[in-house]
Amino acid sequence: MFRTHTCGELRITDVSKNVTLSGWVQRVRKMGGMTFVDLRDRYGITQIAANGNKNHDLQEQCNKLGREFVVQISGVVIERENKNTTIPTGEIEVDCKEITILNESETPPFTIENESDGGEELRMKYRYLDIRRNPIKNNLLLRHTMALAIRNYLDKQGFIEVETPVLIGSTPEGARDFVVPSRVWPGQFYALPQSPQLFKQLLMVGGIDKYFQIVKCFRDEDLRADRQPEFTQIDCEMSFVEQKDVVSMFEGLAKYIFAQAKNIHFQEDFPHITYADAMNMYGSDKPDIRFEMTIQNLTKSFKGSEFIVFEQAQYIGGIVVKSCADYSRKELDALTEWVKRPQIGAKGLVYIKHENDGTIKSSIHKFFTPEQLYAVCKQYSIEKGDLMLILSGDTNATLTALGELRIEMGNRLGLRNKDVFAPLWVVDFPLFEWDDETQRLYAKHHPFTSPKPEDIALLDTNPKDVRANAYDFVVNGSEIGGGSIRIYDAKLQAKMFSILGFTPEQAQQQFGFLMGAFKYGAPPHGGLAFGFDRFVSILSGCDSIRDVIAFPKNNAAKDLMAESPTHISQEQLDELCLIIHKKDSKE
Ligand code: AMO
Repeated sequence: MFRTHTCGELRITDVSKNVTLSGWVQRVRKMGGMTFVDLRDRYGITQIAANGNKNHDLQEQCNKLGREFVVQISGVVIERENKNTTIPTGEIEVDCKEITILNESETPPFTIENESDGGEELRMKYRYLDIRRNPIKNNLLLRHTMALAIRNYLDKQGFIEVETPVLIGSTPEGARDFVVPSRVWPGQFYALPQSPQLFKQLLMVGGIDKYFQIVKCFRDEDLRADRQPEFTQIDCEMSFVEQKDVVSMFEGLAKYIFAQAKNIHFQEDFPHITYADAMNMYGSDKPDIRFEMTIQNLTKSFKGSEFIVFEQAQYIGGIVVKSCADYSRKELDALTEWVKRPQIGAKGLVYIKHENDGTIKSSIHKFFTPEQLYAVCKQYSIEKGDLMLILSGDTNATLTALGELRIEMGNRLGLRNKDVFAPLWVVDFPLFEWDDETQRLYAKHHPFTSPKPEDIALLDTNPKDVRANAYDFVVNGSEIGGGSIRIYDAKLQAKMFSILGFTPEQAQQQFGFLMGAFKYGAPPHGGLAFGFDRFVSILSGCDSIRDVIAFPKNNAAKDLMAESPTHISQEQLDELCLIIHKKDSKE
């Protein structure tokens, strides 16, 4: 038997028991005649004590142990003289009688401690060592707890988990597909699913009226802290439902997850906000509502001056930053540079400071009288001590930039506490999105999303104004999930494809099987998918979803540990009838 107990298990009540433990050597400390070994496994750390006065050889053996050696020790549990109140096993130690080295280890490239000295790239290269650290291990445990809660909840609600294929044709979720060449069909390719969207809809046609799947999805898109090329969805679909049924079912699931994983119990319904309000008030379709600082539309108040920037702007908006009137010139200059960065894209930043002594200072004082500026302070509740930051320009771009500025100020003022959770639903998304570059409409969600019935007439006249029966689940400024009620009528679906610029032949080629299925009695249906990695990372307080994935890819889409992607042999290329153009091949 390798162990009678784990390294996190023994307590003062176990004193005088004979035990055997197995684990990794975290640390060896020699203190005169005694040597102490911190032995670690998944469950915790137990101190092992080797007394050289009683057994010199044993102490010598312990002295020679290196970090991360795998050892088995047997001994007796005794009460510690110097108790360690910071760990659960801190009242006891094991008086070592026998030690066996099960495996040696090279010196690890970074310290396996809660705060490691290893940078992220190094830790990802040796991810198996990183997983030994509590922060990563605890994230994997949380992920497991959440997966279990999800399966329990959905099973109780009558959902069944159905697996869908991974080698499929293209599914349009807005990103590029990863493709897999077929050997059997030279020159033909499978696509990996961006989501199981089409299959879950086909399951509804198949009569499986409550489906879910915790499923891998693949998207070839630019990576960010909350995006991985392969990620996991909690994918769900229901038949005979309206938007409110879907939202209420999955609000229930979200509340259950919070309760099971974090012991947080939401009593109230999550708030709903329309897409239009979210954009106007927060400059984002995934608003962080943990703090106010909402965007004020100042356009009317500031038009009609000699300030040419405002005169030329389609929109002027601002945020009131509480108690920041003492921002120095230098700080405001730095903030101006910040909003001018290409990611934010503002041309400049205007401020109004309502000083504590009641005076007003502003970068636009030459163009507006003190009375005008006082009136603005009054109208927009810029109280003594407050600072208003103002941007102007095209409406959408300015709102988005203000949204970014709001988040930045929220961060600077410590208003985005990771232990506070503010979930909400964003509803009434537009059905389409206009792309200036390609001069065409794209589906904002995906092409199977149904328009709001009252907006269907606008499809012919003003498609940009059509709202969708689509909803996003947002927590703390992060889009955790999204879904919609689907089109289930073949004619409406065909119309949608045509507005999106698909010829009937293209639509037939890409989605023929769905359109075909819709001819055989498709039920009304709808659903949603949560991004599982994002959900885990928000609950664990991590900044990146990489920290909640056992073996993630880096921001350049590389797995540094397994070294993928990689070149394949000429034989494999020949077998697949593939030729690589040298100029496209990166080392
Ligand atoms: P959507 O594209 O909104 O909807 O995706 C659902 C959720 O998946 C997460 N997500 C990601 N997480 C990590 N890395 C990525 N690259 C990534 N892309 C998306 C987000 C997102 O909210 N089939 C529809 C769902 C439906 O309509 O039922 C879909 O995939 O948290």
